[in-house]
Amino acid sequence: MRVRRCTFLCLEPREQLEFDLELLTSGGSGLREMLGWYALSPNLANAVEVSANEVAVLGALSPSQWREWEDLIAIHSPEHLEALVRKGLLIVENSQQAADDDKLRGTHWRAASAIMHYASRWRGIDAVEALKQINETEGGDLLFKLGTPEPVVRERAAPDARQPLPAAPSSALEELFLRRVTCRNFDLSRSLTLEQFSTVLYRAWGARTVHDYAPGVPLLKKGVPSAGGLHTTEAYLLVQRVDGVAPGLYHYHPIDHALESMRALSADEAATLARQFVAGQNYFVDAHAIVVAVSRFRRNFWKYRNHAKAYRAITLDVGHLSQAQYLAATELGLAAFITAAINEVDIELAFGLDPLEEGPLAVTGFGIRAAQRKEVEWDPLHAVWPDSTGPY
Ligand SMILES: Cc1cc2nc3c(=O)[nH]c(=O)nc-3n(C[C@H](O)[C@H](O)[C@H](O)COP(=O)(O)O)c2cc1C
Repeated sequence: MRVRRCTFLCLEPREQLEFDLELLTSGGSGLREMLGWYALSPNLANAVEVSANEVAVLGALSPSQWREWEDLIAIHSPEHLEALVRKGLLIVENSQQAADDDKLRGTHWRAASAIMHYASRWRGIDAVEALKQINETEGGDLLFKLGTPEPVVRERAAPDARQPLPAAPSSALEELFLRRVTCRNFDLSRSLTLEQFSTVLYRAWGARTVHDYAPGVPLLKKGVPSAGGLHTTEAYLLVQRVDGVAPGLYHYHPIDHALESMRALSADEAATLARQFVAGQNYFVDAHAIVVAVSRFRRNFWKYRNHAKAYRAITLDVGHLSQAQYLAATELGLAAFITAAINEVDIELAFGLDPLEEGPLAVTGFGIRAAQRKEVEWDPLHAVWPDSTGPY
């Protein structure tokens, strides 16, 4: 048998504090510090604890050269080597893990970015419930306990030392900005028209043309910019209430401006999946169309190999797409949202995405705003809720 270390690995010394009554009664703080090493790797669903001895072994193993097991046990303790195989940090040649590791390696991730991406994916998290629990255990008023926030602006000059600029004239774009308010109240009784749905999708996600940047390198031209012009982020949809589109999962084809059906859903199944996608944020579940921004890492990293900025650039692309969707929806009198609190793993499973090649970075959506406001919307300009008074 031959083995090698997994390609991407980060070792984190973590401290956990445990309450101990004896320590308190003997005059101490009552807190016992527990220090341990944790291994983070894209190959693992969760961080795993490793011993200091295992850390030392990991540091001595090659991530690129297969080594004979017999040779390794002559140098390192078999017990530590076996533990590392069990934990998925030492990979056995010709296994599924080896194939996955090869795929990750072939994607040209920057190591720190790969760790960052895979360590921040959620599965089955209810973010609203988790926040409620923190609030309860913290005594109910988390904001109060956090103290005052950083100032709203970091001022670099006294008010009278600032150079005033001419006011921006009013414009259609400014009007649109003023009407954009993140929506958390969608109208369950109405459907989007096919035209509304299709227009918002096209404005934000549709390609205006395809052009060969170089022979064999076609690029899309869209209304939004994208790092390297690569447009590696695509729209995967959970459609709930759109005239002429059955509830279900779809992929949007940006060149043909067409839907590719992936799975039909009943209304209940759609709502259940929507709740999973947005990690229990009920106010987004009712959106008529939920649009998951899925980035194809391999396409970006094809050009930006092992690049320090590539992952950041991909996430920035998503912001542009989302804002375009917000404005396109607002222009039609519709409303939109974005959330980063998402269950990436559940989304990957629902759409059958291979997380080693592509992954969701945000969930967005749009639809018709309800006439009644039940959930918080932050509208200090009273752009959509004229008679609203705080709290927002
Ligand atoms: C990257 C990003 C992540 C966000 N995540 C959430 C979220 O998890 N839940 C939520 O209710 N709103 C989320 N929002 C929406 C913000 O709360 C919202 O933009 C903010 O309250 C300001 O309101 P406005 O968009 O109406 O101006 C997110 C916005 C951005 C840009």
